Amino acid sequence: MNTKPERIIIFDTTLRDGEQCPGATLNIDEKLTIAKQLARLGVDIIEAGFAFASPGDFEAISKIAQTVGTEDGPVICSLARARKEDIKAAAEAIKPAAKGRIHTFIATSDIHLKYKLKKTRQEVVAIAEEMVAYAKNFTSDVEFSPEDAGRSDPEFLYEVLERVISAGATTVNIPDTVGYTTPSEFGALIKGIKENVPNIDKAIISVHGHNDLGLAVANFLEAVKNGARQLECTINGIGERAGNAALEELVMALHVRRQYFNPFLGRPVDSEEPLTNIDTKQIYRTSRLVSNLTGILVQPNKAIVGANAFAHESGIHQDGVLKNKLTYEIMDAQSIGLTENQIVLGKHSGRNAFRTRLRELGYELTETELNQAFIRFKEIADKKKEITDWDLQAIVNDEIQQAPELFKLELVQVSCGSNAKPTATVTLRTPEGEELMDAAIGTGPVDAVYKAINRVVNVPNQLIEFSVQSVTAGIDAIGEVTIRLKHENRVFSGHAANTDIIVASAQAYVNALNRLYAWLQTQSQRKQVTA
Ligand code: KIV
Ligand code: ZN
Repeated sequence: MNTKPERIIIFDTTLRDGEQCPGATLNIDEKLTIAKQLARLGVDIIEAGFAFASPGDFEAISKIAQTVGTEDGPVICSLARARKEDIKAAAEAIKPAAKGRIHTFIATSDIHLKYKLKKTRQEVVAIAEEMVAYAKNFTSDVEFSPEDAGRSDPEFLYEVLERVISAGATTVNIPDTVGYTTPSEFGALIKGIKENVPNIDKAIISVHGHNDLGLAVANFLEAVKNGARQLECTINGIGERAGNAALEELVMALHVRRQYFNPFLGRPVDSEEPLTNIDTKQIYRTSRLVSNLTGILVQPNKAIVGANAFAHESGIHQDGVLKNKLTYEIMDAQSIGLTENQIVLGKHSGRNAFRTRLRELGYELTETELNQAFIRFKEIADKKKEITDWDLQAIVNDEIQQAPELFKLELVQVSCGSNAKPTATVTLRTPEGEELMDAAIGTGPVDAVYKAINRVVNVPNQLIEFSVQSVTAGIDAIGEVTIRLKHENRVFSGHAANTDIIVASAQAYVNALNRLYAWLQTQSQRKQVTA
């Protein structure tokens, strides 16, 4: 393993730490779809899950390892606590990958040692060393994380790191688990590690951090200046609590401010060589895909991928940009793959034109996916004269969303207006194939539809988030609906796109209910097995 990379290694943990975000639970096919896109984006390592955590996680890692973990693809990694059973499961799950990594961890802060692990420092260091050596039996690529490093005693940290590197760790990851440190402190921590761990040149220094104080990205950039060469991040910054450092922000900071960062990597200031392997033109698509599949919306003012990130509202700004973009723009929207909203296709466009444009946009669909998406495209083109790139992206993302189709929405019909009681009729096909129809009155058309659907599905749930976004401008725009609902403290999301927002709302709700229903089924299967 090259422990002196000439560029920054991007380790994506959207499918592991990102998935720990409440309600972000993804099924195996969705994880695979995201993993394929992460490979297109050019991440170096995909942390695909925590193999020991559940059979679903294990299977997802294994499938990703098989499909995406090719010789020229990313390294596929599984998380494992510093325990033999975890490490064994991780090793088994990553086996199909051409390049596999085991990422094992144990906490090192006194708070964690005293209250969580109830172990002494000497016990912890011995476990860390032993488990890294154990993981080496399965793969040469072993990463070790001292959890809560940000609040650990640096002297103890140096000792742990020296011992795990001697035991074979090729990457040592420094997590700011609770998002507590400030940029200068985090930079100093990395500098201290570089200066005080005698064998540090035998490992890559990585960083991992949470955004509780909104400092994760700033901390990472300071870490890079002080010697970190691997960044652990997630798409849209999703993750535990306030999330993780956002991949798109890190990559674009390193891209836009390359001249500033070049010297820290020993390069001439004006070197044009990219600092990461990321294809920045894939950033926007990846962000949309992750948001659609997890149901976690991107705030409009979010850096890089928010809807307003490239919008200029003030007259002074608009005037400046029209005269010269450089007045108010530090990066080009196209550099993250936001295409100009070109009109590309219409209802007379054929399959070939459709496929070609999708390829140009970076989508490689299977024949079945292409056929499904083409049918949707034709339906929408019948209602909407001009199909833009953004519409195409909405159609494809919607088609490849993998909510299990247990209940199928066959019909939705509403009647509403200023002097009418909003009433909805729905027909659903049940998982057993029976067609059931019901109707309800609500406070508005969407409420009526949801009540009618609930009468058929009959699973208690509480709607906690409902959002409609227009994909493009215009009266015939496609509306994208994202919803999240709660059942016994678990959150399930649903997403759908349609020119009719009532249909999109109904479909998004059915998608979320299907996820909930599938989860209930696995729970009852588990109960039967253990009974
Ligand atoms: O936040 C954290 O400390 C982690 C570790 C498991 C790396 O996610
Ligand atoms: Zn974390």
